[in-house]
Amino acid sequence: MSEIFADLIIEHAAQLLTLNTSKNRPVLRPVKEDLGIIEDGFVAIDDTGCIVATGKTGDINISLKPGGRRISARGRVVMPGFVDPHSHIVFGGSRIEEIKMRLSGKTYLEIQEAGGGINFTVSATRRASEEELLNRAGQVISFMLKHGTTTLETKSGYGLNKEVEIKMLHIINELNKKHHMDIVSTFLGAHLVPKEFLNNRNEYIRLLIEEMMPAAGEVAEFCDVFCEKGAFSVEEARKILLAGKSCRLLPRIHAEQLSCIGGAELAGEIKALSADHLEYISREGICSMAANGVVAVLLPGATFFMNLDRYAPARTMIEEGVPVALATDYNAGSCWTCSMQMIMSLACIKMKMTPEEAIVASTVNAACALNRDSLAGTLEKEKHGDVIICDVPDYSLLPFYFGANHVVTVIKKGKVVFE
Ligand code: NIG
Ligand code: FE
Repeated sequence: MSEIFADLIIEHAAQLLTLNTSKNRPVLRPVKEDLGIIEDGFVAIDDTGCIVATGKTGDINISLKPGGRRISARGRVVMPGFVDPHSHIVFGGSRIEEIKMRLSGKTYLEIQEAGGGINFTVSATRRASEEELLNRAGQVISFMLKHGTTTLETKSGYGLNKEVEIKMLHIINELNKKHHMDIVSTFLGAHLVPKEFLNNRNEYIRLLIEEMMPAAGEVAEFCDVFCEKGAFSVEEARKILLAGKSCRLLPRIHAEQLSCIGGAELAGEIKALSADHLEYISREGICSMAANGVVAVLLPGATFFMNLDRYAPARTMIEEGVPVALATDYNAGSCWTCSMQMIMSLACIKMKMTPEEAIVASTVNAACALNRDSLAGTLEKEKHGDVIICDVPDYSLLPFYFGANHVVTVIKKGKVVFE
Protein backbone atom coordinates (compact mmCIF):
# COMPACT_ATOMS: atom_id res chain seq x y z
CA MET A 1 0.00 0.00 0.00
CA SER A 2 1.40 3.42 -0.92
CA GLU A 3 2.34 5.76 1.87
CA ILE A 4 0.01 8.67 2.73
CA PHE A 5 1.36 12.01 3.93
CA ALA A 6 -0.60 14.26 6.29
CA ASP A 7 -0.17 17.56 8.12
CA LEU A 8 -2.53 16.75 10.96
CA ILE A 9 -3.38 13.34 12.38
CA ILE A 10 -5.95 12.88 15.14
CA GLU A 11 -5.60 9.33 16.40
CA HIS A 12 -6.65 6.83 19.05
CA ALA A 13 -10.19 8.24 19.24
CA ALA A 14 -12.34 6.07 21.52
CA GLN A 15 -15.03 6.54 18.86
CA LEU A 16 -14.40 8.17 15.51
CA LEU A 17 -17.82 9.02 14.08
CA THR A 18 -17.28 9.23 10.32
CA LEU A 19 -21.02 9.36 9.45
CA ASN A 20 -19.75 7.72 6.27
CA THR A 21 -21.96 4.80 5.28
CA SER A 22 -23.40 3.50 2.05
CA LYS A 23 -26.81 5.06 2.71
CA ASN A 24 -28.14 7.79 0.45
CA ARG A 25 -28.05 11.30 1.84
CA PRO A 26 -29.82 12.87 3.60
CA VAL A 27 -30.06 9.88 5.94
CA LEU A 28 -33.65 8.73 6.59
CA ARG A 29 -34.56 6.88 9.81
CA PRO A 30 -31.00 6.98 11.22
CA VAL A 31 -29.69 4.04 13.25
CA LYS A 32 -26.37 3.39 14.97
CA GLU A 33 -24.73 2.01 11.78
CA ASP A 34 -25.25 5.41 10.15
CA LEU A 35 -22.70 6.94 12.51
CA GLY A 36 -19.92 4.94 10.79
CA ILE A 37 -18.15 4.38 14.11
CA ILE A 38 -14.48 3.34 14.13
CA GLU A 39 -13.10 2.43 17.55
CA ASP A 40 -9.50 3.54 18.19
CA GLY A 41 -9.96 5.58 15.02
CA PHE A 42 -7.91 8.23 13.26
CA VAL A 43 -8.53 11.00 10.76
CA ALA A 44 -5.71 12.53 8.72
CA ILE A 45 -5.80 15.91 6.97
CA ASP A 46 -3.28 17.47 4.61
CA ASP A 47 -2.33 21.07 3.86
CA THR A 48 -5.15 21.51 1.36
CA GLY A 49 -7.42 21.40 4.45
CA CYS A 50 -9.08 18.22 3.22
CA ILE A 51 -9.27 14.75 4.72
CA VAL A 52 -6.83 12.24 3.19
CA ALA A 53 -7.73 9.15 5.21
CA THR A 54 -9.75 7.74 8.08
CA GLY A 55 -9.51 4.31 9.70
CA LYS A 56 -8.33 2.34 12.70
CA THR A 57 -5.16 3.77 14.26
CA GLY A 58 -2.15 1.80 13.01
CA ASP A 59 -3.96 0.09 10.14
CA ILE A 60 -2.72 2.49 7.48
CA ASN A 61 0.80 3.73 7.03
CA ILE A 62 0.55 7.50 7.37
CA SER A 63 3.55 9.77 7.64
CA LEU A 64 3.46 13.18 9.21
CA LYS A 65 4.96 15.87 6.98
CA PRO A 66 7.70 18.05 8.52
CA GLY A 67 6.08 20.59 10.85
CA GLY A 68 2.92 18.47 11.03
CA ARG A 69 1.03 17.65 14.21
CA ARG A 70 -0.31 14.50 15.82
CA ILE A 71 -3.10 14.76 18.41
CA SER A 72 -4.11 11.90 20.67
CA ALA A 73 -7.87 11.66 21.25
CA ARG A 74 -7.64 8.73 23.68
CA GLY A 75 -10.87 8.31 25.64
CA ARG A 76 -12.64 10.89 23.46
CA VAL A 77 -15.18 11.12 20.66
CA VAL A 78 -14.00 12.60 17.35
CA MET A 79 -16.63 13.62 14.82
CA PRO A 80 -17.45 16.13 12.06
CA GLY A 81 -17.91 19.74 13.18
CA PHE A 82 -21.57 20.61 13.66
CA VAL A 83 -23.49 22.18 10.78
CA ASP A 84 -26.04 24.71 12.10
CA PRO A 85 -28.50 25.29 9.23
CA HIS A 86 -30.74 28.04 10.68
CA SER A 87 -29.76 31.21 12.53
CA HIS A 88 -30.22 34.99 12.54
CA ILE A 89 -27.00 36.32 14.06
CA VAL A 90 -26.82 39.82 12.54
CA PHE A 91 -28.96 42.32 14.48
CA GLY A 92 -28.86 45.37 16.73
CA GLY A 93 -30.46 46.11 20.12
CA SER A 94 -31.48 43.89 22.98
CA ARG A 95 -34.83 42.23 23.75
CA ILE A 96 -34.12 41.32 27.37
CA GLU A 97 -37.24 43.22 28.50
CA GLU A 98 -39.44 41.29 26.10
CA ILE A 99 -38.14 37.99 27.39
CA LYS A 100 -39.12 39.05 30.89
CA MET A 101 -42.60 40.00 29.55
CA ARG A 102 -42.93 36.54 28.02
CA LEU A 103 -42.16 34.95 31.35
CA SER A 104 -44.96 36.94 32.92
CA GLY A 105 -47.44 35.52 30.41
CA LYS A 106 -47.42 37.64 27.22
CA THR A 107 -47.28 35.62 23.99
CA TYR A 108 -44.84 36.10 21.10
CA LEU A 109 -47.62 37.45 18.84
CA GLU A 110 -49.02 39.79 21.53
CA ILE A 111 -45.56 41.26 22.03
CA GLN A 112 -45.14 41.60 18.28
CA GLU A 113 -48.49 43.40 17.97
CA ALA A 114 -47.49 45.79 20.78
CA GLY A 115 -44.43 46.89 18.77
CA GLY A 116 -41.96 44.44 20.26
CA GLY A 117 -40.60 41.34 18.62
CA ILE A 118 -39.08 41.43 15.15
CA ASN A 119 -40.15 45.09 14.60
CA PHE A 120 -38.21 46.21 17.66
CA THR A 121 -35.08 44.54 16.34
CA VAL A 122 -35.67 46.00 12.88
CA SER A 123 -35.59 49.55 14.30
CA ALA A 124 -32.44 48.82 16.29
CA THR A 125 -30.75 47.14 13.32
CA ARG A 126 -31.55 50.06 11.02
CA ARG A 127 -29.91 52.40 13.54
CA ALA A 128 -26.81 50.28 14.12
CA SER A 129 -23.54 50.92 12.31
CA GLU A 130 -21.99 48.29 10.09
CA GLU A 131 -19.09 47.96 12.52
CA GLU A 132 -21.41 47.36 15.48
CA LEU A 133 -23.32 44.67 13.60
CA LEU A 134 -20.12 43.00 12.41
CA ASN A 135 -18.55 42.95 15.88
CA ARG A 136 -21.60 41.57 17.63
CA ALA A 137 -22.16 38.84 15.11
CA GLY A 138 -18.44 38.07 15.24
CA GLN A 139 -18.71 37.37 18.97
CA VAL A 140 -21.59 34.99 18.36
CA ILE A 141 -19.57 33.17 15.70
CA SER A 142 -16.58 32.73 18.04
CA PHE A 143 -18.88 31.33 20.71
CA MET A 144 -20.51 28.94 18.24
CA LEU A 145 -17.10 27.77 17.02
CA LYS A 146 -16.03 26.98 20.60
CA HIS A 147 -19.17 24.88 20.90
CA GLY A 148 -18.17 22.86 17.84
CA THR A 149 -20.04 24.48 14.96
CA THR A 150 -17.92 24.75 11.81
CA THR A 151 -20.59 25.58 9.19
CA LEU A 152 -23.45 28.01 9.77
CA GLU A 153 -26.39 29.36 7.83
CA THR A 154 -27.53 32.85 8.73
CA LYS A 155 -30.11 35.28 7.39
CA SER A 156 -30.91 38.92 6.74
CA GLY A 157 -34.44 39.86 7.81
CA TYR A 158 -33.99 42.59 10.39
CA GLY A 159 -33.61 45.37 7.79
CA LEU A 160 -36.85 45.05 5.82
CA ASN A 161 -35.84 47.74 3.34
CA LYS A 162 -33.51 47.35 0.40
CA GLU A 163 -30.63 49.29 1.88
CA VAL A 164 -30.44 47.48 5.21
CA GLU A 165 -31.32 44.01 3.87
CA ILE A 166 -28.49 44.19 1.32
CA LYS A 167 -26.17 45.67 3.97
CA MET A 168 -26.94 42.67 6.21
CA LEU A 169 -26.12 40.25 3.39
CA HIS A 170 -22.82 42.06 2.77
CA ILE A 171 -22.05 41.81 6.50
CA ILE A 172 -22.75 38.07 6.38
CA ASN A 173 -20.34 37.68 3.46
CA GLU A 174 -17.78 39.79 5.30
CA LEU A 175 -18.14 37.55 8.39
CA ASN A 176 -17.58 34.54 6.15
CA LYS A 177 -14.29 36.02 4.95
CA LYS A 178 -13.13 37.19 8.40
CA HIS A 179 -13.88 34.08 10.45
CA HIS A 180 -12.89 30.42 10.27
CA MET A 181 -16.56 29.41 10.21
CA ASP A 182 -18.08 28.69 6.78
CA ILE A 183 -21.14 30.93 6.61
CA VAL A 184 -23.98 30.42 4.16
CA SER A 185 -26.23 33.42 3.55
CA THR A 186 -30.00 33.60 3.18
CA PHE A 187 -32.17 36.53 2.10
CA LEU A 188 -35.11 36.90 4.53
CA GLY A 189 -36.63 40.20 3.37
CA ALA A 190 -39.95 38.38 3.91
CA HIS A 191 -39.53 38.10 7.68
CA LEU A 192 -42.41 40.51 8.36
CA VAL A 193 -44.18 43.37 6.58
CA PRO A 194 -42.45 46.43 8.07
CA LYS A 195 -44.51 48.98 10.00
CA GLU A 196 -44.40 51.58 7.21
CA PHE A 197 -46.15 49.15 4.81
CA LEU A 198 -48.78 47.77 7.18
CA ASN A 199 -51.57 49.35 5.14
CA ASN A 200 -49.98 48.43 1.85
CA ARG A 201 -48.54 44.94 2.10
CA ASN A 202 -48.81 44.28 -1.64
CA GLU A 203 -46.50 47.20 -2.29
CA TYR A 204 -43.94 45.69 0.12
CA ILE A 205 -44.17 42.34 -1.66
CA ARG A 206 -43.69 44.11 -5.00
CA LEU A 207 -40.64 45.87 -3.59
CA LEU A 208 -39.29 42.58 -2.29
CA ILE A 209 -39.68 40.84 -5.62
CA GLU A 210 -38.81 43.59 -8.07
CA GLU A 211 -36.22 45.61 -6.21
CA MET A 212 -34.66 43.69 -3.33
CA MET A 213 -34.46 40.21 -4.80
CA PRO A 214 -32.41 40.93 -7.93
CA ALA A 215 -29.79 42.59 -5.68
CA ALA A 216 -30.02 39.82 -3.06
CA GLY A 217 -29.49 37.22 -5.80
CA GLU A 218 -25.97 38.62 -6.26
CA VAL A 219 -24.96 38.18 -2.62
CA ALA A 220 -27.07 35.40 -1.06
CA GLU A 221 -27.60 31.72 -1.80
CA PHE A 222 -31.07 31.09 -0.37
CA CYS A 223 -34.40 32.86 -0.04
CA ASP A 224 -36.54 32.33 3.07
CA VAL A 225 -40.05 33.46 4.10
CA PHE A 226 -41.65 33.54 7.55
CA CYS A 227 -44.93 31.86 6.57
CA GLU A 228 -47.20 32.44 9.56
CA LYS A 229 -50.31 34.31 10.73
CA GLY A 230 -49.16 37.89 11.24
CA ALA A 231 -46.27 37.43 8.78
CA PHE A 232 -46.79 36.01 5.22
CA SER A 233 -49.58 33.75 3.93
CA VAL A 234 -48.96 30.57 1.93
CA GLU A 235 -49.99 32.35 -1.31
CA GLU A 236 -47.59 35.21 -0.60
CA ALA A 237 -44.80 32.82 0.36
CA ARG A 238 -45.30 30.87 -2.89
CA LYS A 239 -45.07 34.04 -4.96
CA ILE A 240 -41.96 35.26 -3.09
CA LEU A 241 -40.09 31.94 -3.17
CA LEU A 242 -40.80 31.37 -6.87
CA ALA A 243 -39.57 34.89 -7.63
CA GLY A 244 -36.48 34.08 -5.57
CA LYS A 245 -35.85 30.99 -7.69
CA SER A 246 -35.76 33.12 -10.80
CA CYS A 247 -33.07 35.26 -9.11
CA ARG A 248 -31.00 32.08 -8.41
CA LEU A 249 -32.05 32.03 -4.73
CA LEU A 250 -32.91 28.51 -3.59
CA PRO A 251 -36.05 28.29 -1.43
CA ARG A 252 -36.33 27.47 2.28
CA ILE A 253 -39.18 28.42 4.58
CA HIS A 254 -40.18 29.11 8.21
CA ALA A 255 -43.34 26.99 8.40
CA GLU A 256 -46.03 25.94 10.89
CA GLN A 257 -44.21 27.42 13.90
CA LEU A 258 -47.17 28.87 15.80
CA SER A 259 -50.11 27.57 13.74
CA CYS A 260 -50.74 25.21 10.84
CA ILE A 261 -51.41 27.08 7.60
CA GLY A 262 -49.89 24.82 4.94
CA GLY A 263 -46.31 26.05 4.68
CA ALA A 264 -44.98 22.48 4.80
CA GLU A 265 -47.14 21.45 1.81
CA LEU A 266 -45.85 24.50 -0.03
CA ALA A 267 -42.26 23.44 0.74
CA GLY A 268 -42.97 20.08 -0.92
CA GLU A 269 -44.73 21.67 -3.87
CA ILE A 270 -41.86 24.03 -4.74
CA LYS A 271 -39.17 21.53 -3.67
CA ALA A 272 -37.66 23.78 -1.01
CA LEU A 273 -34.34 22.59 0.43
CA SER A 274 -35.80 22.80 3.89
CA ALA A 275 -38.87 23.71 5.89
CA ASP A 276 -37.98 24.87 9.39
CA HIS A 277 -39.75 24.92 12.81
CA LEU A 278 -42.84 22.71 12.01
CA GLU A 279 -44.23 22.52 15.54
CA TYR A 280 -47.80 22.52 14.10
CA ILE A 281 -47.17 20.47 10.94
CA SER A 282 -50.13 18.38 9.66
CA ARG A 283 -50.07 14.82 8.35
CA GLU A 284 -50.45 16.22 4.81
CA GLY A 285 -47.46 18.46 5.41
CA ILE A 286 -45.37 15.51 6.59
CA CYS A 287 -46.36 13.46 3.52
CA SER A 288 -45.56 16.34 1.17
CA MET A 289 -42.10 16.83 2.69
CA ALA A 290 -41.31 13.10 2.69
CA ALA A 291 -42.45 12.68 -0.94
CA ASN A 292 -40.31 15.60 -2.10
CA GLY A 293 -37.21 15.04 0.05
CA VAL A 294 -37.53 18.40 1.86
CA VAL A 295 -35.31 18.46 4.95
CA ALA A 296 -37.16 19.31 8.19
CA VAL A 297 -34.94 21.67 10.18
CA LEU A 298 -36.23 21.40 13.76
CA LEU A 299 -35.55 24.20 16.24
CA PRO A 300 -36.41 22.95 19.74
CA GLY A 301 -34.37 25.79 21.27
CA ALA A 302 -37.02 28.29 20.14
CA THR A 303 -39.87 26.29 21.70
CA PHE A 304 -37.88 25.97 24.92
CA PHE A 305 -36.84 29.62 25.10
CA MET A 306 -40.36 30.87 24.33
CA ASN A 307 -41.55 28.55 27.09
CA LEU A 308 -44.07 26.83 24.81
CA ASP A 309 -45.33 23.28 25.17
CA ARG A 310 -45.54 22.15 21.61
CA TYR A 311 -42.39 20.70 20.06
CA ALA A 312 -42.24 19.50 16.45
CA PRO A 313 -43.40 15.86 16.04
CA ALA A 314 -39.93 14.56 15.24
CA ARG A 315 -40.78 10.90 15.83
CA THR A 316 -43.64 10.86 13.32
CA MET A 317 -41.58 12.76 10.76
CA ILE A 318 -38.66 10.34 11.06
CA GLU A 319 -40.93 7.30 10.89
CA GLU A 320 -42.66 8.71 7.79
CA GLY A 321 -39.30 9.15 6.02
CA VAL A 322 -38.78 12.91 6.33
CA PRO A 323 -35.05 13.77 6.53
CA VAL A 324 -34.58 15.58 9.84
CA ALA A 325 -31.92 18.17 10.74
CA LEU A 326 -31.46 20.33 13.84
CA ALA A 327 -30.42 23.97 14.23
CA THR A 328 -30.00 26.57 16.96
CA ASP A 329 -32.22 29.31 15.43
CA TYR A 330 -29.99 31.77 17.33
CA ASN A 331 -31.81 35.12 16.90
CA ALA A 332 -32.64 38.41 18.57
CA GLY A 333 -35.65 37.32 20.57
CA SER A 334 -36.83 33.75 20.40
CA CYS A 335 -33.69 31.69 20.94
CA TRP A 336 -30.41 32.57 22.62
CA THR A 337 -28.20 29.54 22.40
CA CYS A 338 -25.03 29.07 20.38
CA SER A 339 -24.78 25.39 21.26
CA MET A 340 -25.74 22.55 18.96
CA GLN A 341 -25.05 20.25 21.95
CA MET A 342 -27.85 21.98 23.88
CA ILE A 343 -30.11 21.59 20.84
CA MET A 344 -29.31 17.86 20.69
CA SER A 345 -30.23 17.56 24.38
CA LEU A 346 -33.60 19.23 23.75
CA ALA A 347 -34.14 17.07 20.66
CA CYS A 348 -33.62 13.89 22.68
CA ILE A 349 -35.46 14.88 25.85
CA LYS A 350 -38.33 16.95 24.40
CA MET A 351 -38.78 15.39 20.95
CA LYS A 352 -37.76 11.83 21.85
CA MET A 353 -35.06 11.63 19.21
CA THR A 354 -32.31 9.07 19.78
CA PRO A 355 -28.71 10.26 20.18
CA GLU A 356 -27.96 8.66 16.78
CA GLU A 357 -30.78 10.63 15.14
CA ALA A 358 -29.64 13.84 16.86
CA ILE A 359 -26.05 13.42 15.66
CA VAL A 360 -27.09 12.67 12.06
CA ALA A 361 -29.44 15.70 12.26
CA SER A 362 -26.61 18.00 13.42
CA THR A 363 -24.07 16.92 10.82
CA VAL A 364 -24.81 15.15 7.54
CA ASN A 365 -28.52 15.99 7.29
CA ALA A 366 -27.88 19.61 8.24
CA ALA A 367 -25.23 19.78 5.50
CA CYS A 368 -27.81 18.46 3.01
CA ALA A 369 -30.24 21.21 4.06
CA LEU A 370 -27.57 23.72 3.03
CA ASN A 371 -26.41 22.01 -0.16
CA ARG A 372 -23.03 21.46 1.50
CA ASP A 373 -23.06 17.66 1.68
CA SER A 374 -20.13 17.35 -0.73
CA LEU A 375 -17.95 19.39 1.67
CA ALA A 376 -19.18 19.03 5.23
CA GLY A 377 -21.14 16.84 7.63
CA THR A 378 -19.12 13.60 7.41
CA LEU A 379 -15.48 12.57 7.82
CA GLU A 380 -14.48 11.14 4.47
CA LYS A 381 -11.70 11.50 1.97
CA GLU A 382 -11.62 14.78 0.03
CA LYS A 383 -14.14 16.55 2.26
CA HIS A 384 -13.15 19.51 4.39
CA GLY A 385 -11.14 18.62 7.49
CA ASP A 386 -13.81 20.03 9.84
CA VAL A 387 -13.39 17.96 12.98
CA ILE A 388 -14.24 18.29 16.67
CA ILE A 389 -12.83 16.41 19.64
CA CYS A 390 -15.28 15.93 22.51
CA ASP A 391 -14.18 14.98 26.00
CA VAL A 392 -16.63 12.11 26.38
CA PRO A 393 -15.92 8.41 25.77
CA ASP A 394 -19.29 7.70 24.15
CA TYR A 395 -21.36 9.82 21.72
CA SER A 396 -24.61 9.31 23.71
CA LEU A 397 -23.17 11.53 26.42
CA LEU A 398 -23.22 14.52 24.06
CA PRO A 399 -27.01 14.96 24.37
CA PHE A 400 -27.48 13.20 27.72
CA TYR A 401 -24.79 14.93 29.77
CA PHE A 402 -26.56 18.23 29.10
CA GLY A 403 -25.70 21.87 29.61
CA ALA A 404 -21.93 21.44 29.36
CA ASN A 405 -19.62 22.17 26.45
CA HIS A 406 -17.91 18.84 25.78
CA VAL A 407 -15.95 20.18 22.80
CA VAL A 408 -12.25 20.54 23.67
CA THR A 409 -10.70 20.98 20.21
CA VAL A 410 -12.09 22.41 16.98
CA ILE A 411 -10.37 21.90 13.64
CA LYS A 412 -11.55 23.87 10.62
CA LYS A 413 -10.20 22.91 7.20
CA GLY A 414 -7.28 21.17 8.88
CA LYS A 415 -6.36 24.07 11.18
CA VAL A 416 -6.73 23.88 14.95
CA VAL A 417 -8.90 26.95 15.64
CA PHE A 418 -9.86 26.26 19.25
CA GLU A 419 -8.35 24.10 22.00
O1 NIG B 1 -36.94 31.71 13.57
N1 NIG B 1 -39.91 32.90 13.39
C1 NIG B 1 -39.41 33.90 12.90
N2 NIG B 1 -38.14 34.26 13.03
C2 NIG B 1 -37.32 33.95 14.13
C3 NIG B 1 -37.61 34.81 15.28
C4 NIG B 1 -37.10 36.15 15.06
C5 NIG B 1 -37.27 37.08 16.22
O2 NIG B 1 -38.09 36.87 17.12
O3 NIG B 1 -36.52 38.06 16.20
C6 NIG B 1 -37.35 32.47 14.44
O4 NIG B 1 -37.74 32.02 15.52
FE1 FE C 1 -35.75 31.62 12.18
